[in-house]
Amino acid sequence: MTTSVKWLGHSAFQVITGGKSILIDPFFNGNPAAQISAGDVAADVILVTHGHGDHVGDTVEIAKRTGALVISNFEIITWFQKQGVENAHPMHIGGSHRFDFATVKLTIAHHGSELPDGSYGGNPTGIILKIADGNIYFAGDTGLFYDMKLIGEENIAVAVLPIGDNFTMGPEDSIKAIKLLEPQTVIPAHYNTWPLIDQDAAAWGDRVATETSAKPAVLQVGDEYIL
Ligand code: NI
Ligand code: MN
Repeated sequence: MTTSVKWLGHSAFQVITGGKSILIDPFFNGNPAAQISAGDVAADVILVTHGHGDHVGDTVEIAKRTGALVISNFEIITWFQKQGVENAHPMHIGGSHRFDFATVKLTIAHHGSELPDGSYGGNPTGIILKIADGNIYFAGDTGLFYDMKLIGEENIAVAVLPIGDNFTMGPEDSIKAIKLLEPQTVIPAHYNTWPLIDQDAAAWGDRVATETSAKPAVLQVGDEYIL
């Protein structure tokens, strides 16, 4: 079995494992970095880290079209259900659940989570996907926090970290995060979508390679990393 992680732009990723398509924060319509539209993407599962529009994205449209199982925190799942999403599974921070595609664990993230219509979206989360090919940690939108040390104890093969700065940690703090997490590989996200979060990912990758034990995997939108 192989597992792939494809960057779909901004914080949107597609993990394919065991023949299933798992979307993370599927923001396509209105995403200047996206190369695909919500009407085209395949999904068996959709995971949403927090309530902001650039992460909730097109979840409702994709879930209704595909019947994909939607997983997020309790408050966001309640909001999705009010919009007619039927196949949904609420979780919350610290909880794990074994699904047929992976074990999912939600972690803390330091950020906001208000939903696009102003509804309360609970606390923001990160996501750990525990897969036989290796554990993948999606930090979501967050600043640096020292408890990443504990997340690192989960044996992270691939960490997906924001580096855009302004709304999340930037390159400098991401280096500290990598030292706490000690993943084998790190993929940058949440940058170059808009000028406000432009970053030099190649320069960041050089720093990761020289200053940490992790291997940087700087993807172009549409590229995939194979575990
Ligand atoms: Ni956000
Ligand atoms: Mn965001």
